[in-house]
Amino acid sequence: MFKRQMIKTVHLSPSRVQIPFKGSGLNDDMSAWFSLRRSDTELFISYLFVPEVKKSAVLRNPNAGFRIGYFHYPRLIMATVRRPILVLGATGRQGGSVVKGLRKIQWPVRAFVRDPSDPASIALREASAEIVHGSLEDSDTIASAMKDVHGVFSVLPANLSADDEVRYGTLIADLAAESQIDHFIYSSGASVGDKLTGIPRFDAKPRIEAHIRALPLTATIVRPMIFMEMLVRPGFGLEEGRLISLIRPDHSIQLTAVDDIGKIVAAMFVDKARFAGLTLKIASDRVTGHELESIFTEAADKPITYARFSDDVLAANGDLAHMASSLEDGPLAEHVDLKLMREINPEVVSLRSWLRGAGRTQLKEALHRGKV
Ligand SMILES: NC(=O)c1ccc[n+]([C@@H]2O[C@H](COP(=O)([O-])OP(=O)(O)OC[C@H]3O[C@@H](n4cnc5c(N)ncnc54)[C@H](OP(=O)(O)O)[C@@H]3O)[C@@H](O)[C@H]2O)c1
Repeated sequence: MFKRQMIKTVHLSPSRVQIPFKGSGLNDDMSAWFSLRRSDTELFISYLFVPEVKKSAVLRNPNAGFRIGYFHYPRLIMATVRRPILVLGATGRQGGSVVKGLRKIQWPVRAFVRDPSDPASIALREASAEIVHGSLEDSDTIASAMKDVHGVFSVLPANLSADDEVRYGTLIADLAAESQIDHFIYSSGASVGDKLTGIPRFDAKPRIEAHIRALPLTATIVRPMIFMEMLVRPGFGLEEGRLISLIRPDHSIQLTAVDDIGKIVAAMFVDKARFAGLTLKIASDRVTGHELESIFTEAADKPITYARFSDDVLAANGDLAHMASSLEDGPLAEHVDLKLMREINPEVVSLRSWLRGAGRTQLKEALHRGKV
């Protein structure tokens, strides 16, 4: 009878995997060497040289604790090693959800962080991500973080000037092209349309998109719709039993649960052939203003009324007004194929279930904000 054994340490180099059997219950002095063949998306162990080993083992990626297979000497049953995905903004919302989505399918992650001692970075390490320390200002650290990775997920912080956003977004894509990355995924914005607006901060993402499309780079662009998280932020009236947002009550808004971005992006890395070259809007649910009222009333267990921002507020805030008009008849109004979303990510959440699950704490905080 073959017995499964857990191997705790495996040394992985670009061409070889060494499996020390120490502590495995096999022969303590024995090690096995595998020669690796690099395919488009994965490293395959193609040859197995194991001295008289008659037991089976579980192989693990050293960086990510990723199970790569079982073998029963002399026959290799299954052994694939995926090269990691470099995730930028890994301590943030989107990057964090991509790390989660990739780790869920046991894909190794290299997380690019500004401060390795930050609790969010420590949590990433505990989730078996490899941590690389760097900053968007330092192109050398970004380039070296791209060494030997399969893919890159690029998302930029929201607080950049338009010039910096374009500078960093194009630089990251250039470095990925130079590093001959297999699959590059850039998270853009759903308000991006086909035409530039002439307003630099609205045009930064479409300019980065255009730059990526012109590069010799296999890329997918995702455009997430408005985050569900945005509805439970301060200033939207929930503590006073009101929800104020950007649509008229009988119009609909498409919302994305940030967790779904990570699951969809992970599915895209898995199926590069299908998603290469595509630009895809991402959403989890579509609801009208009237539905927002009933869904929030049910989730809060008290009446919540829905209203659109007043015309005065919109007139005084260019960004809100831009989004409101985009939701009315611009890019944010274009229907996302929710059936396709469910097909790519069968766990896609509705707003109702998000408010009961991942969004519950934020909803409670929003309802009680300002109350002792
Ligand atoms: N669809 C929507 O409703 C919606 C809503 C909000 C934002 N967005 C878009 O989403 C994007 C922002 O993504 P997000 O919400 O995931 O961002 P986020 O949660 O604010 O996270 C930003 C990430 O970038 C990192 N970062 C900031 N400055 C950096 C630097 N100089 N070098 C390296 N890393 C740096 C942060 O690291 P630290 O943890 O060290 O700060 C963090 O990991 C923007 O493009 C924004 O326009 C969309």
